[in-house]
Amino acid sequence: MGQWRNVAERVPGYRMALALRDLTRPGDRRAAALLRLRRPAGLFQPFGTTGVDRYPAIFGRLREALQPHPATHGDVPLRLLSFGCSTGEEVFTLRTYFPTATITGIDISAPRIAVARREVPARQQKTTRFVVAASAAGELPDSYDAVLAMAVFRHGDLADGPARIGAGLSFDRFETAVSQLAVRVRPGGYFAIRHANFRFADTAIADGFDAIMWDESITPHYDRSGLRLRHVATEPCLFRRRYDPDIASRPDDPVVG
Ligand SMILES: C[S@@+](CC[C@H](N)C(=O)[O-])C[C@H]1O[C@@H](n2cnc3c(N)ncnc32)[C@H](O)[C@@H]1O
Repeated sequence: MGQWRNVAERVPGYRMALALRDLTRPGDRRAAALLRLRRPAGLFQPFGTTGVDRYPAIFGRLREALQPHPATHGDVPLRLLSFGCSTGEEVFTLRTYFPTATITGIDISAPRIAVARREVPARQQKTTRFVVAASAAGELPDSYDAVLAMAVFRHGDLADGPARIGAGLSFDRFETAVSQLAVRVRPGGYFAIRHANFRFADTAIADGFDAIMWDESITPHYDRSGLRLRHVATEPCLFRRRYDPDIASRPDDPVVG
């Protein structure tokens, strides 16, 4: 069966035929098919695969790092952005780690955001916001304590790691989108990225961030020219924005700015 699928996937039009078939299916397969066929500007991963508490180690570390510091933070609620939030599970999970935070979820797929909005409990309406958008351009610079981009800057069709990037992705597109996100992180705040086909560390804006946490590397990575990089065991998954991009943060820097 697996062998037949590998052969079939090399036949031109096979994946498109699957997308057309999925248009008639219920639930998220239809949302993915719509994205694959329409290819809206800015699209990365069309599949909405998600789940509750997919990144417990990263969320736990973020909670530790963003512990309110009474002297400087007072009662100001934390502001978190989940970019590529799919049907909202990531936002609802973040809520369990950060009960009083203001959390925004952005996704390019209107049907997925509609599902997410339906799930917001009445008592969380004021502190939970879901937005249909293809980028973070509508958000203010320096306005988030943490921004997360989990499983967005990738494409499921590259799972087998072809030697050259495809599926409409390019490093330039990644760098533009990820830089827009990174400038939304306040100085001293955090940027989490997981399962991307490119490395945040290869972007120019990453010079203003320090990697503070690593995780197993599963997703194939591509360089600036679109060639597959040699596999490495771990990759940085959590970065902290420096107060001054020219001065590397010290480990004892205060957590809040
Ligand atoms: C695999 S899901 C990831 C869901 C969640 N972040 C997680 O890790 O469980 C990828 C999501 O990214 C969204 N997406 C892809 N390109 C996007 C873009 N340019 N702007 C916003 N969302 C995008 C897709 O619609 C999809 O819902």
